[in-house]
Amino acid sequence: TAPAAVIVAIDGPSGTGKSSTSKAVAAQLGLSYLDTGAQYRAITWWMLNNGIDVQDAMEVATAAAKPVIVSGTDPAAPTITVDGEDASGPIRTQEVTSKVSAVSAVPEVRTRITELQRTIAAAAERGIVVEGRDIGTTVLPDADLKIFLTASPEARAARRSGEVKGSDLAATKEALIKRDAADSGRKTSPLAKADDAVEVDTTELTLQQVIECVVTLVEEKRATK
Ligand code: DC
Repeated sequence: TAPAAVIVAIDGPSGTGKSSTSKAVAAQLGLSYLDTGAQYRAITWWMLNNGIDVQDAMEVATAAAKPVIVSGTDPAAPTITVDGEDASGPIRTQEVTSKVSAVSAVPEVRTRITELQRTIAAAAERGIVVEGRDIGTTVLPDADLKIFLTASPEARAARRSGEVKGSDLAATKEALIKRDAADSGRKTSPLAKADDAVEVDTTELTLQQVIECVVTLVEEKRATK
């Protein structure tokens, strides 16, 4: 018989290895994968392209329902489109990264994107790994397994810096700390560890070790389902 669908929530700040870990765990276990940060980036990209002043919460709220955002959930090749257009490249630009916290703090944006996320998770027949900031606390409070990844600011900045060509380590660290503060400090659904989440500090761990740790936790859960 097919194993029961398992829902895994992986939250934490940027640079903790969340995306790499989530994708690898989903691929190894044959689960779907959803990058919720990509959805917030996609709606931000659409706002910037459509002349919305992203600092104006009223304007952002009014526009929040307009873009059609579709996420492909294959961990080997995750995709994201906005109004049918491939957004996977443009959502990683510095411009989007610097504006996404403002857009994702708007409650209407969160409601809209949260609904999308719940629909996608419910449709995943074998289960899904969903990564973000508020998955265990708000989006999927009944997830079978909740992981909260952390790492020192130095380790996180070094990892992010390694991903972005020609980036400056000190500036990366500063931008990352600023974005975390905004994401943790917002009123609606901030970055937070759920009470029942397993915290994994990845500072001294290799990516492979983090993946193995999470895979083991998922397998233990699946065995008791
Ligand atoms: O994981 P990321 O860096 O791609 O996320 C981009 C931004 O989206 C992040 O600064 C905060 C926001 N975000 C959020 O508010 N809630 C989520 N579940 C995921 C991301």
